[in-house]
Amino acid sequence: ERPRVWVSQPLFDDIVSRLHAYFDVVQAPDVREHDEAAIAAALREVDGALVTLNERIGEREIASAPKLRAVANVGVGYDNLDVGALQSRGIVATNTPDVLTETTADFGFALMMAAARRITESERHLRGGKWTGWNFKGLLGADLHRSTLGILGMGRIGQGIAKRASGFDMQVLYHNRSRLPADVEGAYKASYVDFDTLLARADHLVLVLPYSPQTHHIVDAAALAKMKPTATLTNIARGGIVDEAALAEALGSGRLAAAALDVFEGEPAVDPRLLALDNIVLTPHIASGSLSTRRAMVTLAVDNLIAALGAGPDAGRPPTPIVPVTQGGDAGK
Ligand code: GLV
Ligand code: GLV
Repeated sequence: ERPRVWVSQPLFDDIVSRLHAYFDVVQAPDVREHDEAAIAAALREVDGALVTLNERIGEREIASAPKLRAVANVGVGYDNLDVGALQSRGIVATNTPDVLTETTADFGFALMMAAARRITESERHLRGGKWTGWNFKGLLGADLHRSTLGILGMGRIGQGIAKRASGFDMQVLYHNRSRLPADVEGAYKASYVDFDTLLARADHLVLVLPYSPQTHHIVDAAALAKMKPTATLTNIARGGIVDEAALAEALGSGRLAAAALDVFEGEPAVDPRLLALDNIVLTPHIASGSLSTRRAMVTLAVDNLIAALGAGPDAGRPPTPIVPVTQGGDAGK
């Protein structure tokens, strides 16, 4: 009997169809939200699953999935997976790092620029018919060049942002769970500082760290109070890292100049207090969303699933990369 796999969303058919060579494939016919019961039902009879960050896979979802051996996540962040629960069942979990690094760093930089230079706010102004002529003092923003960039989470994407910043003559400060080796710091001209110093000195702060219980709301009211009132905050990691109510308060009171968010704690719901603000750029979790990168992510996830189930030309080889289950995402997102 051929192994069975579940594909949780319609992805790129020409890539996903490679699974048909080895497996019986059950694919969700349309984009949908799968609740716990739906996921449990989908996993009941399958050997493997190709899922996205919309699907939470934990103890309860796998409780009645005796055959499940592999879960391939399409995405670098894997806070949707309870890796401990999967591991204790011997289920291999994989993600898609590396292939999205540069695309995501591009987008983080774009969001930071949009917040600093008030690009989306300016467009709303123009489209709203409010532009009455060149205005010397209108819509003034903050410079990126020669400013101080703060990066929280200095993994591959954080390093990609640091690399871009050097072209803007920015001074790069970072904070990370573990300090980078001196040669890597040197290569990115990045200086390690503690979290409070990062908050206090950054003109532009970018969040690129994994979400976990330890990073839940680490940017809260107290952290925001330590930032410069002229600073911007950009989040391309996970929404739960920021206390959105505190952020809305800081932006509304002028305590913080501007923010840009690609991720939200309750996504796809967006806090109405954020929607009501002008000094925030809001995008719908698209940082890795170039066509070629999304195709590369699906290709890698498909390869991972095939390898993890011991099928295909690489049968017997471990899928690469396996989620680093022992360290819970050490180097920042
Ligand atoms: C998207 O957020 C990802 O983690 O790849
Ligand atoms: C994770 O891929 C990261 O690229 O930082």
